[in-house]
Amino acid sequence: LAASDTADVLELRTERLLLRRWRPRDAEPMVQVNRDPEVTRHLNRPMDEVAAAGFFDVMVDHWERYGFGPWALESLEPDTSGRFVGFAGLLQLPPFLVAAGSTPELAWRLGRSFWGRGLATEASLAARDDALGRLALPELISVIHPDNQRSQSVATKLGMQPVRSIENPVLGRDVDVWALADRAGRRLPR
Ligand SMILES: CC(C)(COP(=O)(O)OP(=O)(O)OC[C@H]1O[C@@H](n2cnc3c(N)ncnc32)[C@H](O)[C@@H]1OP(=O)(O)O)[C@@H](O)C(=O)NCCC(=O)NCCS
Repeated sequence: LAASDTADVLELRTERLLLRRWRPRDAEPMVQVNRDPEVTRHLNRPMDEVAAAGFFDVMVDHWERYGFGPWALESLEPDTSGRFVGFAGLLQLPPFLVAAGSTPELAWRLGRSFWGRGLATEASLAARDDALGRLALPELISVIHPDNQRSQSVATKLGMQPVRSIENPVLGRDVDVWALADRAGRRLPR
């Protein structure tokens, strides 16, 4: 993991991925990812065509407003080099999930052709370490649908565990809040 924060370059690199700020060319592939019902079935709010079309602007606005946000993921692998993979990183929770807490969520979402290769975990580990290190966040949470086994698996590999469930009023059901345990295995204070 390497972070460079000089000369207007803010990016992270892992073995197979570049985590970087969003570029206009990410807009179209991100729409495609968000149009895939298999990708969006367990999100915190339904993804319709309007939401999919506006999602890129939400990412750009998030970075401008907070100075951090979900990283756009770009492949560094030879056969897919330069391709948009998805995103991983910090996302401010919407007001309807205030019950989850005020700390930003660590979120991840990949195009389906990139699933099943450890890329989501690889990217999220880098985003986690950047959030805890450079950004010095004291705590990290993820809000995960109880049926989202792939996401639960990523959270577990990141050292997170389910700490409580809260109502998601948009979905009309309870969802789980996962939080990072500290090195001693204790849960961090809420
Ligand atoms: C959640 C999501 C990001 C997980 O993606 P993923 O590819 O399953 O997650 P990982 O990166 O941890 O990959 C794990 C898989 O890669 C496999 N793998 C293959 N090569 C690997 C490698 N070199 N290193 C690690 N794992 C590897 C693992 O065995 C595992 O396979 P399995 O799913 O058959 O058990 C993805 O399913 C997604 O985008 N879902 C839709 C959006 C979403 O729900 N986001 C979360 C909302 S809370």
